[in-house]
Amino acid sequence: MNLATKIANTTFNNPIWVASGTFASGEEFTDFINLADVGAIITKTVTLKARTGNPPPRIVETAAGMLNSIGLENNGAAVFKQEQYSRLKQLNTKVIVSIGGGTKQEFIECTKILAEANFPSALELNFSCPNVEHAQAKFKLTAQDPVLTEEIVAAVKQQTKVPIIAKLTPNVTDIVTIAKAAEAGGADAVALSNTYRGIAVDAETKRPLLGNIIGGLSGPAIKPLSLMAVWETYKHISIPIIGIGGIMTGIDAAEFMLCGAWAVQVGTANLVDPDAHARVLQEFKDYLKRHNIKQLDELIGRVRDPNSC
Ligand SMILES: Cc1cc2nc3c(=O)[nH]c(=O)nc-3n(C[C@H](O)[C@H](O)[C@H](O)COP(=O)(O)O)c2cc1C
Repeated sequence: MNLATKIANTTFNNPIWVASGTFASGEEFTDFINLADVGAIITKTVTLKARTGNPPPRIVETAAGMLNSIGLENNGAAVFKQEQYSRLKQLNTKVIVSIGGGTKQEFIECTKILAEANFPSALELNFSCPNVEHAQAKFKLTAQDPVLTEEIVAAVKQQTKVPIIAKLTPNVTDIVTIAKAAEAGGADAVALSNTYRGIAVDAETKRPLLGNIIGGLSGPAIKPLSLMAVWETYKHISIPIIGIGGIMTGIDAAEFMLCGAWAVQVGTANLVDPDAHARVLQEFKDYLKRHNIKQLDELIGRVRDPNSC
């Protein structure tokens, strides 16, 4: 069984990755899983300058999911590089660094600091954090503005040969337009998608439950919505799609790949169960075996017509 999947010129050992913000930089999980079995680790989003994040509470459980409003707390790109790069480079797996920014210039500066000749395996541009507004976007988030999405991808591409993944927001009328803009800018892949904006309210105290009021909804509640984003976009772009949203089992991963994902990222499941990645990978392998699938081409985009026999 060949599980390898390719983005630009980089080959990943398997298509089961872990999502930004739910896996720290990997070391917290070494007691639970073998990091070499993770197709790729996507780091927590790093910004040019340090950010303290949003006021607490920052996490609340919901029916079949959770809301978070972390607000991209991090120590800034230079400190991240100094403290994490030598360790991340020694991990026996692919590392993708997620970067975010409030302006095009911040994305460019972050790329200059973090992209080296042979590291990381890709940069994931977080155009979609629901908790941080983009200063230049016509709307609130970069990935709500196709022109800015294309411009920033193109600007980052000029800085580096490292493959670029644009992580989009589902909080748009038509995600296909934004995915096409990322492709036009030169993105090597799109990640679909980040969390859905939501709020939670305590009826007794009559107060919002998150310090920032608005958070991003993740977990099983969003899986059908994310699947739809992947399925719709697959028909309209030719770069790979990375599927994200409510993946809790290997069967969920297979569903995303049937709808057109070349790889998937496991997010909230890591917070429920630190073994989640290992279990999802094993269940995914079992599924492939059961269906006699020898390589991923036989699965990707192969969801059938409802009327086929
Ligand atoms: C606590 C938490 C923190 C997150 N932080 C980030 C982040 O820093 N950057 C980012 O691109 N996505 C972040 N995300 C979004 C996830 O990477 C993922 O896109 C989303 O949670 C949907 O996947 P899931 O339903 O499997 O969790 C975060 C999600 C959670 C739950």
